[in-house]
Amino acid sequence: VELCKGASGLDKVVLRDRGSSAEVYLYGGHVTSWKNEHGEELLFVSSKAIFKPPKAIRGGIPICFPQFSNHGPLEPHGFARNRFWSIDIDPPPFPTQSSSKAFIDLILKPSEEDLKIWPHSFEFRLRVTLGPGGDLMLTSRIRNTNTDGKVFTFTFAYHTYFSVSDISEVRVEGLETLDYLDNLQNKERFTEQGDAITFESEVDKIYLRTPTKIAILDHEKKRTFVIRKDGLPDAVVWNPWDKKAKAMADFGDDEHKHMLCVEAAAVEKSITLKPGEEWRGRQELSTVPSSYCSGQ
Ligand code: BG6
Repeated sequence: VELCKGASGLDKVVLRDRGSSAEVYLYGGHVTSWKNEHGEELLFVSSKAIFKPPKAIRGGIPICFPQFSNHGPLEPHGFARNRFWSIDIDPPPFPTQSSSKAFIDLILKPSEEDLKIWPHSFEFRLRVTLGPGGDLMLTSRIRNTNTDGKVFTFTFAYHTYFSVSDISEVRVEGLETLDYLDNLQNKERFTEQGDAITFESEVDKIYLRTPTKIAILDHEKKRTFVIRKDGLPDAVVWNPWDKKAKAMADFGDDEHKHMLCVEAAAVEKSITLKPGEEWRGRQELSTVPSSYCSGQ
């Protein structure tokens, strides 16, 4: 575990275990890199990403808190992704400790300015762990530290940008037949009909109450990403496609072909915490070699 300077002189933490590695910026508590033991990058970060506040870094794993997207009055995706987090030197013990030594604990507490936007005192602890097999685990613990007796509610997402070779050759498994809210159609509710989720145009859907395991099959790379999640009932699937890609200043015109966001999230039902209560939400990412036909 090493603290060093990243893009624009921002502090980042590098985790290494055998050949694999991960990088976490203190700005946003934002994972920007996850490489396997062959040094292959598994996350997408735009070549046009801006590493400068107040812009959130385009790619990697932005943390959406205390609001997912525009589902509420705050700025889209809340403010955690464009605040400076600190290294948490003495975190309270985790119920389940991983044996890995490649981890970092970060903490975010609201500033005076944040309290004006969202009048709630909280402690957000994020542990990023690189497992011995190269798996990447993110555990969030959010505690209501209000002293005025007030409950608070929030929505949340790990906005993970996966790197894929060619979006038109990608299939997602685990979301078939589920209900979803379509952000492209006024957040209306639909039921997924097809038996395989593939991509040929813009998509922005919130799948509801999904299984805890979702797979992204990358046919060309012969690689499957496996997402396991806990405490996060929903899963957002987003690809801006060409028109929206062109409209974003921090996203390359053709880059939508090489990314897919599948986001472990709690959106449909917001989380409510009483003072002193803590919520935990966990995402575990791994890869397995795959063949498109096996449906593995
Ligand atoms: C997704 C949302 O999670 O994030 C989309 O569902 C949104 O609606 C996208 O466009 C990107 O958001 P942003 O704020 O990072 O440009």
